[in-house]
Amino acid sequence: MDRKYFLAANWKMNGSLKANKELVLSIKEQFNKITSNNIELVICPPDIYLDQVKNLLDKDIEYIKLGAQNVSFEANGAFTGQTSVEMLKDFNISSIIIGHSERREFNNESDLDIAKKIYSVLHLDNNIKPILCVGESLTARESGETENIIKNQVIKVLDFLKEKSILENLEIMQRLVIAYEPIWAIGTGKVATAAQANEVNRFIRELIQKISLELSDKVRIIYGGSVKSNNALDLISQPDIDGFLVGGASLDATEFVKIYSHMCN
Ligand code: PGA
Repeated sequence: MDRKYFLAANWKMNGSLKANKELVLSIKEQFNKITSNNIELVICPPDIYLDQVKNLLDKDIEYIKLGAQNVSFEANGAFTGQTSVEMLKDFNISSIIIGHSERREFNNESDLDIAKKIYSVLHLDNNIKPILCVGESLTARESGETENIIKNQVIKVLDFLKEKSILENLEIMQRLVIAYEPIWAIGTGKVATAAQANEVNRFIRELIQKISLELSDKVRIIYGGSVKSNNALDLISQPDIDGFLVGGASLDATEFVKIYSHMCN
């Protein structure tokens, strides 16, 4: 397995000029002692702070990259409050979180919206990695619907990419990162067990295998949902978990760096 681990900090709607400065400087200081070449690390602040965080990262941006939490699928124009792929490119963004369950729920994002966003990123830029978030609710898990929900969310995107003729392009498609984030585990302190998380990640990999064995071997499938320093090691030891999307714990530099250091082992 030659997949590089992927670790993304999702700050969500948190931060201030002052708090961001303290957090980034503290992360940088602690990272300097333990950086690994086998982990792709991304910090995703709110858009309004991208410039500030970019400047704070400075030359460390080579190993701590900058990401965004959302993007419009439109190229430009009369879309009040939206941000385009081209605008994010101005800030050297390396990744964009797409289809997070909070956006699906609070902004009514549909599977089609999400598919269009993934396509825009893959198609309008040669480097940016879209992080597709999928996950089931507690009710769905308890009624045995997890695999159906996940399959539906993943396939809707893959079918759209097929329609747009990029699904067969390995070079483009290997930029896709998929984050399995069970909704019941996000921000609740209730983490999926390592076995539960690996089972779904494995299931996603098998869905991709049906398209291309080579692609399924390259695509990073990460886990998100109450990842902390005390569960990261167990989760990362699983064969189909290639990293994490971290919310709450990414706002604490020491905790976040500990998660990173577990991935170095
Ligand atoms: P959490 O959030 O780590 O606070 O559970 C994860 C996410 O929503 O990406």
